[in-house]
Amino acid sequence: MSLSPAALAALRQEYSERGLRRAELDPNPIVQFGLWLAEATVQQLLEPNAMTLATVDAEGQPASRVVLLKGCDDRGFTFFTSYEGAKGRQLAANPRASLTFWWGALERQVHVRGTVSKVSREETETYFHSRPVTSQLGAWASHQSEVLKDRAQLEQQFEQALSRFGEQEVPLPPFWGGYCLRPSAIEFWQGRRSRLHDRLRYSRGSDEPWLIERLSP
Ligand SMILES: Cc1cc2nc3c(=O)[nH]c(=O)nc-3n(C[C@H](O)[C@H](O)[C@H](O)COP(=O)(O)O)c2cc1C
Repeated sequence: MSLSPAALAALRQEYSERGLRRAELDPNPIVQFGLWLAEATVQQLLEPNAMTLATVDAEGQPASRVVLLKGCDDRGFTFFTSYEGAKGRQLAANPRASLTFWWGALERQVHVRGTVSKVSREETETYFHSRPVTSQLGAWASHQSEVLKDRAQLEQQFEQALSRFGEQEVPLPPFWGGYCLRPSAIEFWQGRRSRLHDRLRYSRGSDEPWLIERLSP
C-alpha cells in the first residue's frame, strides 16, 4: 500500500487542545521543560524523552537522528552515544547542535539550540553502569555508523565482547560517553486552531538572564 500525493496532502490535523500564555511560563526554561516532560511522561507516550538531535559536519552538511535525553538540569540537556560515530565526528568538528521533542498527544514541540561539550568520565561511568549489561556489551560490539558486511558480523562482535569480559564488570569503552547541550535558546510550541499556534522562546547571551518572546507561527 502506498499513499497517493492527494492523500498525503489531505492529511491534516486541526489543533485545539489548549493555549500557552506568557504569564503561565516559569521564568526558568529548564523548570518549564521539566513540567512539560513530566506531563508527556504521564501520557504514557512511547519514549517521551526521545529527541531529534541535529548536527552539522565540517562541510556544513546537516544530519539528524533520534537520541534519548538522560539528564536535564541547569547545565543543559544530556545524552549518551559513541564519540566515534557520525554524530560524534560531527560534534567534534562543530559543537553547535539542536534538539527537538515532539509530543503529539499533547500537541507540543520543544526546540532547543546550543553548544555541546562532553560530560565528565565520572558521570559517564555512573550512567554506563546503570544500563543493562547487554546494553553495555552492545556499546563494545558496535562501531557506530560503520558499514557492516551483514547482521552476522554485528552478532559476532557482540559474542566477542561477551567472551572478552565474561563475568567481570564491563568497563566503560573509551570511545563512548555523554554530551551536554548548553542551551542558548529554548522554544515551547503549543498547537492551536487555524495554524495560529503559540510559540514562546527563551533566549540568552552568555551570562545574561533569559529573555522570553512570542514568535509568529
Ligand atoms: C527512540 C530512539 C532512541 C535512540 N537513542 C539513542 C541514544 O540515546 N544514543 C545513541 O547513540 N543512539 C540512539 N538511537 C539511535 C540513533 O538514532 C542513531 O541511529 C545512532 O545514534 C547513529 O547515529 P549517527 O550515525 O548519526 O551517529 C536511538 C534511536 C531511536 C529511534
